Amino acid sequence: MSDNVIILAGGQGKRMKINSPKALCNVLGEPMIEWVMKACENAGLDEICVVKGFAGEQIDAYVEGRSSSAKVSTVMQAERLGTGHAVMMAESFLREHTDGNTLILCGDAPFIDADTIKGALELHQSKDNGVTVVTSVVDDATGYGRVIRTENGIAGIVEHKDCTPEQLKVREINSGCYWFRTADLLEVLFEIKPNNAQGEYYLTDCVELMINKGKGADAFISKNPNVALGANDRRGLLKLNDIARMSVIDKWLDEGIEFTCIDGVSIGTDVVIGRGTRIDSNVELRGKTVIGEDCIIGRGCVLENTVIGNNVSLNYVQAYDAVVDECAKIGPFVQLRPDTHICKGVKIGDFVEIKNSTIGEGTSVSHLTYVGDSDVGSNVNFGCGVATANYDGEKKFRTVVEDNAFIGCNTNLVAPVCIGRGAYTAAGSTITGDVPADALAIERAEEIIKEDYAKKKLAARTKKFEDAHK
Ligand code: UD1
Ligand code: CA
Repeated sequence: MSDNVIILAGGQGKRMKINSPKALCNVLGEPMIEWVMKACENAGLDEICVVKGFAGEQIDAYVEGRSSSAKVSTVMQAERLGTGHAVMMAESFLREHTDGNTLILCGDAPFIDADTIKGALELHQSKDNGVTVVTSVVDDATGYGRVIRTENGIAGIVEHKDCTPEQLKVREINSGCYWFRTADLLEVLFEIKPNNAQGEYYLTDCVELMINKGKGADAFISKNPNVALGANDRRGLLKLNDIARMSVIDKWLDEGIEFTCIDGVSIGTDVVIGRGTRIDSNVELRGKTVIGEDCIIGRGCVLENTVIGNNVSLNYVQAYDAVVDECAKIGPFVQLRPDTHICKGVKIGDFVEIKNSTIGEGTSVSHLTYVGDSDVGSNVNFGCGVATANYDGEKKFRTVVEDNAFIGCNTNLVAPVCIGRGAYTAAGSTITGDVPADALAIERAEEIIKEDYAKKKLAARTKKFEDAHK
């Protein structure tokens, strides 16, 4: 059976004051349309057609750039003439799927979930309906279409602006999510007329048209209280972010994760956190980040697509596409840039940046150091202020530091270069050639002492000061 999805995403974020489609506004760091597509994929639906309109090329770019288990296509709605008109634009997609059911969703209502989608489909199929509307019972129904119930189904949906005073009192609203039998939808879709308060082609008019043709129509009340929520402006979007943020934190509280204070804490929906881990304030966990057990993710950490082993302690660490193995201790004020691998038991201290490098087991990089494009062995010690010179303005080169080496303070390692096993570099040296194992490399001028040189200088300075203050 070819059940399929149409996502309506023609709207502009006009009141958001942006020049992009509203459905691309982020909730917890992911576009709202991404939430919607994920819910479809989680419900096992793998044929999606997105109706784009305003800045449609941005929708295309987003869809093309995402890795998806579903087949996603797009169609253009050049003029914004209403939700029914938007679905008309997907006519050929519908005609390819006349043997199944079509789920219609709003690209700017991110909290639709797989259970609701599947529950509504079950009702839709068991009652052999032409249309099943997903609804929500809310305290304030302002702006939403009202669902008009009958004894064993519904009679239709009336838009807020078209409601009688009696209908305005209805608290069961249309979430904007529907299952249609595809062939039945095609039968009525082109019959809808824009004769209503907004002069638009309302998709909701299909419900009444279907009933008139003797098709079954019913409503499925979602257990999800946020199923219909969308945002029209920045304030509304912030509210959606707060709802999403709290629901993810709630899930991890249930899993026993300790939060010392959730101010500024934001955790993406795909993040995984191991038992016994503690999360402090102002921590952002993004993308496919995975955190092991018994870790401390201290204040101010931002981790994106980063994998952290067990018993790791981080404090003010920013990490992007990095891997940190067990028992590492990192921070404060450390940046791990992409393709960094920090091995077991490594210690990284304040103001250190590491990029595209492996830092071997038990190595220590304690302060003010830059390690880029390097392969560092185990039990190496970096003194304060070491820098790898990995870039000559044109190309990047690698630095190799073998096990047990000792890099003196303020050493410059000019790549390509290799510091052999157990070798030392003297503080302040600029190392341009390979250092053999167990050797000491010193590259600095000999110290010269000029006895009593400073005395004359001091006398001159003192006189100048006294003259100035006579
Ligand atoms: C719609 C429903 C309303 C429901 C509400 C839930 C209709 C007539 N009304 O109202 O019953 O309670 O959703 O949020 O359908 N869109 C297009 N092209 C258009 C018009 C809309 O792509 O020409 C897209 C929008 O970008 C949005 C979705 O369709 O993603 C819903 O449109 P919106 O204008 O928000 O519909 P409402 O008037 O809120
Ligand atoms: Ca809306």
